[in-house]
Amino acid sequence: MSSITSCKYALLTDSCRAQPARIACESFSVKSLGLMKRVHVRVIVSTLLIAVSFVPLRLSAQTSSPVAPRRELVESVVKEAYEKFRNESKGNNADYIPYLAQVDSKLFGIAIVTTDNQALTLGDVNYSFSIQSISKVFTLALAMEELGPDKTFERIGSEPTGRAFNSVPAVVDMPTHTGNPLVNAGAIATTSLISGKDADEKWNKILNFYSKVAGEKLTLIDEVYKSEAATNTGNKALSMLLAKYDRIYADPFESVDIYTKQCSVGVNASQLARMGATLANNGVNPATGEQVIKREDVPYILATMTMAGLYDSSGSWAWHVGLPAKSGVGGGIVAIAPGKGAIAVFAPPLDEAGNSVKAQEVIDYVAQKLNYNLYSPSSVGLK
Ligand code: DON
Repeated sequence: MSSITSCKYALLTDSCRAQPARIACESFSVKSLGLMKRVHVRVIVSTLLIAVSFVPLRLSAQTSSPVAPRRELVESVVKEAYEKFRNESKGNNADYIPYLAQVDSKLFGIAIVTTDNQALTLGDVNYSFSIQSISKVFTLALAMEELGPDKTFERIGSEPTGRAFNSVPAVVDMPTHTGNPLVNAGAIATTSLISGKDADEKWNKILNFYSKVAGEKLTLIDEVYKSEAATNTGNKALSMLLAKYDRIYADPFESVDIYTKQCSVGVNASQLARMGATLANNGVNPATGEQVIKREDVPYILATMTMAGLYDSSGSWAWHVGLPAKSGVGGGIVAIAPGKGAIAVFAPPLDEAGNSVKAQEVIDYVAQKLNYNLYSPSSVGLK
């Protein structure tokens, strides 16, 4: 059995948190102590180093919710969930993208990253899988970065379709045609909003943005891209239908190609949890400290995830789990506990709606045990 890497808590706590203290002390010594003798500076700086290396512990504790569960509890609940669901065999890998059919269905990884950058991982958390539809969340964030929420809403909308993620009838029937940024039609239209002088510039902008949200460089899984590009006639049809309604904002096939690339970006469960934790942390990546998504855009993104993150089973998900989440046919799901952190689970077999069976079970279990349900007043500390 894979063992929980609880040592990551200690690693992140000790090395990452001590670092800002050192930087703060060094700049203090340069700017404010210029007239003092060197030897005195050294003594003072060393004393300060010892004293303030504890400060970030307190400061970073303030970046998480005061009602966030204790890490020992999180650890034991995640272990329980792993054991409880590891032999779950319901569901099937997606096969309409040929590459995905061959991925080992037994792969199973769980990662949690908190807003104060504690990480907890268990199972196959280093396996790089394609982000697929989870990418739609972050292209939406980038579109809002460029256009602002009002224009983005006007051009895409945010209504549930109640249909499958790749539904053609939904494009015909919905008054907006695009539906929302998380179904294929709305997502392709959202990708078409990203500016750039050519397709390469737009694609690189998207990939760099995802990398900043993850806090490390992400790359394309070329085999996934080729497999999907060879078979995505349905998405091309959606893009042409959007063109008929004037609801796509760049060349339709170019937009589908960039969208196919964004879906083929590789992430592992840890990276995905960090991307989620950036949303949980008001758009600030908890590992790098960089504000990568505008703070004011985060509620729109989370609301959209609640409404359509698991497609036609989003209502049932909100009822049972009560957390904004997003799934991908690659087998990943990320769920956000605002102010607390994010949980990402990777397990390829999917249900009928295209959502990982095991990932839903694990997140449901963990969210209940840790009192994460956003609609429960006790999740924000009310007794
Ligand atoms: O466009 C597609 O069909 C895929 N690239 C993404 C679909 C997807 O991940 C749906 N999610 N559950």
